[in-house]
Amino acid sequence: MSTDLDALLGSADPPLIVVTTAAEGERAGCLVGFHSQASIGPQRYCFWLSKANHTYRVALRSESFAVHFLTTTDRELARHFGSLSGSETDKFAGLDITVTEAGVPLIADLPNRITVERIAMLDDGGDHVCTTARVLAAESAGDFTPLRPSHVADLSPGHSSDERAVRP
Ligand SMILES: Cc1cc2nc3c(=O)[nH]c(=O)nc-3n(C[C@H](O)[C@H](O)[C@H](O)COP(=O)(O)O)c2cc1C
Repeated sequence: MSTDLDALLGSADPPLIVVTTAAEGERAGCLVGFHSQASIGPQRYCFWLSKANHTYRVALRSESFAVHFLTTTDRELARHFGSLSGSETDKFAGLDITVTEAGVPLIADLPNRITVERIAMLDDGGDHVCTTARVLAAESAGDFTPLRPSHVADLSPGHSSDERAVRP
């Protein structure tokens, strides 16, 4: 079954985003493939963070997030946010960023983005946790061609999903 599932999802090749957040002055962000608009009226957006990731640990203490949409010109930023971990390095050092009132980093080179406020987190026992959020604001720099996993197939994630802490 997993071979067929892998084939189906590989063909779907969903657009990639970078989710950023901050809590108590600690900034975090990672590359995310699991995400979707989840309601039209009211406007809702969902994304799933891996329990293995530094971004997830910061997200547990944050209610504010930015969702940056990647284009085919953003391979290097995808590599940066998808293969490094905030538990070892400050991913925002050297990047041109501004911060929202809530302290969430906005990446200047990724101008297609939304800011959101968490409504709930759903942990269904899988290796990723769903954050469902209300859309506060959206900024668009115009039409773009999304960056997809097939464009960065050689990228190894900073944390694999099976690295999460498990109950003893
Ligand atoms: C193509 C691709 C898709 C990914 N999708 C997700 C995702 O949906 N959710 C997630 O939490 N991590 C995802 N990751 C993994 C993280 O981006 C990666 O482990 C990152 O280094 C974690 O950084 P952090 O520890 O600073 O949070 C993906 C990685 C790649 C290469």
